[in-house]
Amino acid sequence: MNNAGALWGGRFKKAPSEALVDLSRSPAEYFRLAPEDLRSSAAHARELTRAGILTSEECADIERALAEVERDFLAGLVLPIPADEDVHTFLERVLKDRIGALGGKLRAGRSRNDQAANDLKLHLRTKVRTLAADVLALQGALVAQAKEHVETITTGFTHLQPAQPVTFAHQLLAHAQGFARDVDRMIDWDRRSARSPLGGAALAGSAIALHPELSAVELGYEGPCENSIDAIGARDHVAEFLFVAAMLGVNLSRLAEEVFLWNSKQFAWVELDDGYATGSSIMPQKKNPDIAELTRGRSSRLIAALQGVLVALKGIPFAYNRDLAEDKWASFEAIDTLELVLPAMTGMIATMEVDRDRLRSQATLGFSLATEVADWLSRQGVPFSEAHDITGALVRYCEAKGCDFAALQASDLAAVDPRLGPDVLPHLTAEAAIAARSGYNGTAPASVRGQIERLEALIDRQNGWAGAGEG
Ligand code: ARG
Repeated sequence: MNNAGALWGGRFKKAPSEALVDLSRSPAEYFRLAPEDLRSSAAHARELTRAGILTSEECADIERALAEVERDFLAGLVLPIPADEDVHTFLERVLKDRIGALGGKLRAGRSRNDQAANDLKLHLRTKVRTLAADVLALQGALVAQAKEHVETITTGFTHLQPAQPVTFAHQLLAHAQGFARDVDRMIDWDRRSARSPLGGAALAGSAIALHPELSAVELGYEGPCENSIDAIGARDHVAEFLFVAAMLGVNLSRLAEEVFLWNSKQFAWVELDDGYATGSSIMPQKKNPDIAELTRGRSSRLIAALQGVLVALKGIPFAYNRDLAEDKWASFEAIDTLELVLPAMTGMIATMEVDRDRLRSQATLGFSLATEVADWLSRQGVPFSEAHDITGALVRYCEAKGCDFAALQASDLAAVDPRLGPDVLPHLTAEAAIAARSGYNGTAPASVRGQIERLEALIDRQNGWAGAGEG
């Protein structure tokens, strides 16, 4: 044995070089998988008992020791030492320290390759629910703000140019719809990822642990993976988790970008709560939307994590290759980022004050009622292409006169085009434009109330799923 404390070494004449040890050692944060590794070891001990490798008494001793190690690990009483190559090596060492050679029996019928695949999958399956709960808390904040602003009217933009009036609730809920799909993707991911890699035993399947379907269910999976090579070598579930995280990050970044704009002095639509804004070290007047900026910035890490795993995966043959360990930094980076960003965004959205009057004052900026004129003409039988031109001429007329649509008289309309009758004038208010958009997904308050009702029902269902994983 030429690698004391390691899980391998018998066939080596020399100890490993320092450079190899340094490269091979898992980064410190990977040891967070200890609880998953210990739970899985208990399930494996029961599998070895079924296989006749352990007696029931030995199994009970191992299970008791594993539970104690978990308790001590969580209390910070057992820590990895530099010689522990990874979390699996660490825990086997601790177990052997406590129960002697019996601890070494647990290695029969499984490989670290299975443990690595399984531990991370279990971890992701737990985290996907807590992250969903964090997204749903943000949804709660968005819906609460939306309910306050079903009748708050403002400009909607395309190309960041005033386009048409919208209700502010409608604009907030556009983000909520994206987050609802993010949670839906999490639920869908979890369903597809509910297959246990255990029993793979490095690649070919175990000649000892013959009932992975039992350990799978004990660990909360729906069943084992169908193919032991795929079980150990596949990481598409990691890439998919990271896509879901990256998409969520991009959606958060887009919301952050809007808050950033709304909070600018030029927009001045919202005032951030002091608890969710920062100051400047030199300019005493500053109150900065740092949460929005940090969220926008951190989304780059989520994209990088997804990209990192896809690049790591693309060239490696089945089954296990050390490259697969790249699955961990990427997963932890994504989880840690979201766990910081989501509560901060939720607090910022929940506490921001919206200046209704300011929003209303900008609702018709930049001729945002022009579509009402063209729509009115087309209802009079004018082909929309001509209605578009006539309305364009009206905009030009107003620009030349330096006035807004609100100042238009019947004589102005007639001067632009005889088809522009005075009956169009009552349509030229933001309130009228909004009320007219009363279809299923429109911005009219009644439509938005329906949207909120359906969204709240969806959020309830999603909360039921996120909560179901607890304990
Ligand atoms: N620590 C590795 C990982 O996280 C698992 C070790 C598998 N090592 C091996 N030589 N087969 O992926």
